This record gives sequence, C-alpha cells and structure tokens, in this order.
Amino acid sequence: MPDHLPGKLAIALVPALLAGLQGSAAEPTFNDIAPILQRRCVLCHAGPQPPLDLRLDSLAQLLKGSQRGPVVQTGDPTGSELIKRLKGISQPRMPLTGPPFLSDTEIELFERWIAAGLKPAVEPPATDAMANPGAAPAATLGTTLNYSHVEAIFARRCTKCHSSHGLMGAAPEGYLLSSYATTLAYDDRARVVPGSADASELVRRIRGQARPRMPYDGPPFLDKTEIALIVDWIDQGARDAQGKPAPLPGGAKVRLQGTLGANWRLDTLPLKINAKTRSEHSPQAGDYVQVRGRLMHDGSVLVERIRPR
Ligand code: HEC
Ligand code: HEC
Repeated sequence: MPDHLPGKLAIALVPALLAGLQGSAAEPTFNDIAPILQRRCVLCHAGPQPPLDLRLDSLAQLLKGSQRGPVVQTGDPTGSELIKRLKGISQPRMPLTGPPFLSDTEIELFERWIAAGLKPAVEPPATDAMANPGAAPAATLGTTLNYSHVEAIFARRCTKCHSSHGLMGAAPEGYLLSSYATTLAYDDRARVVPGSADASELVRRIRGQARPRMPYDGPPFLDKTEIALIVDWIDQGARDAQGKPAPLPGGAKVRLQGTLGANWRLDTLPLKINAKTRSEHSPQAGDYVQVRGRLMHDGSVLVERIRPR
C-alpha cells in the first residue's frame, strides 16, 4: 500500500475482506481500470477543456478530481461520485454517450479498485493511445479525413447538450451529435451537407455565421484547427469512420442562417431562387436572414422561403 494514500488505516482491512469474498481474485490496479477509461471516457474527459475540468487520462488526473472536488474516496466506493455516475445514482449517468453504459462487471471492477485503495499501475499501462487522447490529430494535412478525426470534438464540446439525455434535457432542435448516423441524419432537415461545408448549418454555427454560435456554452468556441478539421471533413464528403463518403441527400430540407450578400449569396454560399421562392419583408444585402430550402442534386440550395431575422 503506497504511503501517500490517505485513509490507509481504515481501508487496510478491505482488501483482505474482498479477497476472502472473491476467492483468489487479485486486487485490481490502475492497469485494469485504464483500458476502460481509454475506451469509454477519455473521448470527453481529456484535452484542454474537459467537462467540469475532470480529466481521466491518467491516475494523477483522476485523483485530482473535478472543479467540484475529488471523484473517488479511497476505500469508499458508495461515497465516490465516479461510482454514482457509473450507476446513474448521480445524473447525467456516465459515460454520457451511453447507453450502452458500463457492464456490471466493469462497474464492479471500479468498486473493487476504489475499495482496495486505488492501487496504481503495477507496470506502465499501454498508454500509446492515451498519450494525446481527445485531441484533434495534429498532422492531418494531405490526409483524407473521416469521422474518427472529428468525433472527439463533437463528443467533448457538443454531446453534453446534443444527446438524448444531455444538460438541456432533450437535444436542442432534436439534433443528436452522439453518432455518425445522427450527425448526418436529414429526416427533418440536413445540418451537414456532405461535400459542402458552406451549405451545412453545423459549420455556420461553429464559425459564428449563424447565431447563436455553437458550442452554446462558449466562449471558448472551437479553435481554428478544430473548425478547419470539421470543414475539411465535410468538404471531403463527410466520410464515415471506415472512410466511405456519405451520399448527397438530394431533395432534403435545409434551414440556414447567415448574412445575405450581393447576388443572392448567404455569406459565401450561392443561393438559387425560382418563381416559387417566397421572399418576406424584402431582405436586403447585409441583413441577417433565415433561409428555408431544399438541397438540389448538384449540392446547391434552392430557396423556398427567405426572411430577415
Ligand atoms: C460524451 C462525453 C462524455 C463521456 C464519454 C464521459 N463523460 Fe463524464 N461527464 C461529461 C459531462 C458533460 C459531464 C458534466 C455533467 C454535469 O454537469 O454534471 C461529466 C461529468 C462526469 C463526472 C462528474 C464529476 C463531478 O465532480 O461531479 C464524472 C465522475 C464523470 N463524468 C466520469 C466519467 C467516466 C468514468 C466516464 C467513462 C466511463 C465518462 N465520464 C464518460 C461528459 C462525458
Ligand atoms: C450548452 C448546450 C449546447 C452545446 C454544448 C452545443 N449546443 Fe448546439 N444548440 C444548442 C441550442 C440551445 C440550440 C438551439 C439554438 C437556437 O437556434 O435557438 C442549438 C442548435 C444547434 C444547431 C442548429 C440545429 C438546427 O436544427 O438548425 C447546430 C447545427 C448545433 N447546435 C451544433 C452544435 C455543435 C456542432 C456543437 C459543438 C461544437 C454544439 N452545437 C454545442 C445547445 C448546445
């Protein structure tokens, strides 16, 4: 038992007790915990702005806790916020991307690890993937981007609201950013238009061309690199994690907001109009407008209705 751990006297008996209960099951160490954190948690709890300042990418960070204080109480799994979150006793339940949540066996492993005194790794855990978790890949120049390059940004900065059980209850506008399929879904309208970042409301929101700017709880908003990564991913066809480009959802509805420029441009996006286009309250160049329209099969946007906002 390392000397620096608090409460070591009180917990000294627990491991023996557990060992007795569980036969020969070895006490878990951070070696057993790290792979679960890596697989299910560091997507969000890592990098420069983790939720509640809680990073879970190393034992030291985990022990540091969140801006609210420690998330584990040595020897006391029941009193540990981390366990309460894993079981849903504290809401929102973790991982926020669930269901699926952790299995009973995995949760029990965390409980035993906390009960047994938060044993550090006996040998260095395989940390390759944890070296820079959650961060956008640095060298993407010349790379064909796919969903795996942008997923962590959405997870860390967007899913706290845009998921089915987020901070605001139901997802704002019913828009879920918790998976590839929902990010690209266009049942009601498309927010991502594969091949055209400029026609994608998602991009207008992260750039601040459309208001309110996203993430809604910013600043900080996304930095230049993160925005560029998402723009390039969409312009390259919004590929799935396997690298397969998404088809253009011709005929899908879009609703875009931005500033009307000369020659019917919405910021940089050329708009198409026809005899059926309804223009309300005569929008002028320079006006902030809302456009409702349809995506044509060539990727352009045919305006059905446009009005100042
Ligand atoms: C998709 C992003 C995401 C993932 C994945 C995720 N979390 Fe969280 N986590 C959050 C957000 C957002 C909050 C803040 C929620 C709130 O305000 O209570 C949070 C809060 C927490 C808290 C509460 C801290 C405190 O002091 O109250 C704990 C503990 C926690 N997460 C642990 C985990 C663990 C363990 C995992 C993996 C099994 C995990 N999280 C996976 C986003 C995530
Ligand atoms: C703190 C909560 C919160 C966070 C975090 C957040 N959003 Fe939002 N989002 C909202 C709310 C609220 C709205 C509706 C705003 C409105 O138009 O009145 C919204 C609207 C949107 C819309 C418009 C949806 C539509 O149907 O037109 C998009 C796109 C969007 N968000 C993308 C994102 C992205 C991308 C991120 C992360 C970079 C993000 N949001 C982070 C709360 C959030």
